Amino acid sequence: MDNVEIFDTTLRDGEQVPGCKLDYKTKLIIAEQLDFLGVDVLEAGFPISSPGDYKSVKEISKLVKNTRVCGLTRAVKKDIDVAAEAIKHAKLSRIHTGIGTSESHMRFKFNLTPDEVLEKAVIAVKYAKSYVEDVEFYAEDAGRTDNEFLARVCEAVINAGATVLNIPDTTGYCLPEEYGAKMKYLMENVKGIHKARLSCHCHNDLGLATANSIAGVQNGARQIECTINGIGERAGNTSLEEVVMILRQHPKLNLDTRIKSEMLSGISKLVSESMAMPVQPNKAIVGANAFAHSSGIHQDGVIKKRETYEIIDPKDVGITESSIVLTARSGRAALAFRAKNIGYDLDKLELDKVYKQFLIVADQKKGINDEDLPKIIEASNL
Ligand code: KIV
Ligand code: ZN
Repeated sequence: MDNVEIFDTTLRDGEQVPGCKLDYKTKLIIAEQLDFLGVDVLEAGFPISSPGDYKSVKEISKLVKNTRVCGLTRAVKKDIDVAAEAIKHAKLSRIHTGIGTSESHMRFKFNLTPDEVLEKAVIAVKYAKSYVEDVEFYAEDAGRTDNEFLARVCEAVINAGATVLNIPDTTGYCLPEEYGAKMKYLMENVKGIHKARLSCHCHNDLGLATANSIAGVQNGARQIECTINGIGERAGNTSLEEVVMILRQHPKLNLDTRIKSEMLSGISKLVSESMAMPVQPNKAIVGANAFAHSSGIHQDGVIKKRETYEIIDPKDVGITESSIVLTARSGRAALAFRAKNIGYDLDKLELDKVYKQFLIVADQKKGINDEDLPKIIEASNL
């Protein structure tokens, strides 16, 4: 299996969610859990952006034991000075610097020619390299950047010492096929590409962030930038739990990560609660309904053999067991199963009677819980 590095940016790109600012103590708690989770790189913040962000990057650098700590900068010397200072206590550190490379960014954001952008990129990487060995370069809006120019930029920054090349689909525009082809193009056309690691950084504006990241690693990238619960600007970033479990559930891809997947559910709750940002119930892997079965046909299958309707063992992501939810769509198998769980072993005749009563109550209530069941059984005249 080839290893795909997980670059977590929950505390940087993820924290850019409006209204979800974290105080620095909470950031430390999350950083420690991300370290335990096994992320390879933790982007702790954008140190020049505020004194608060500087402080949290600095404290996270002191705290974290195994994970490489990374600070974001623009291709600006002052940014790089401040980031270098903030991460200087980290055991393993990285500076993440870069500049926009798409037509639109070069013309409207910077009013610079492609050659001027390329020069700034090289200067920034060389400058960052004077502080740390590990320098990641991002070509912002690479998703909409011409591949030939992108390859030129990549080659130049590798020669300047970049160890990782981040190819962000900043606006979440690419189709998986296109994003994968971009990675393939870079793998085949950038001289010296073997000296660096290509990284996927995908936004979710069209709901394609996860698919694009997987297409990226299928075409040669070996790092995915992602956040817990997929949080981030606008529609968010690639969701960490999704890419990790996709690689794990598909061994034929021959790719895996070092993530301890049993921690995924817990860390998802921690991030959601800390940011007061609920996870949608049908969210893959960590949503409340991800392992809940409510229709009779599915429940009957899962009770007989979990794998009939589940491709992931819930324990693998830190959930003790699948849940059999009782609603008016449930069947006798689910009712008998749930009744047995609370001590009622019903025979066939009894089950028929209880089921009749159950449907009357279930038609009036959204869900039947363990407190409702004994009352239903008592009212069934067994
Ligand atoms: O989406 C993006 O392009 C970014 C860069 C700053 C890496 O977040
Ligand atoms: Zn981003």
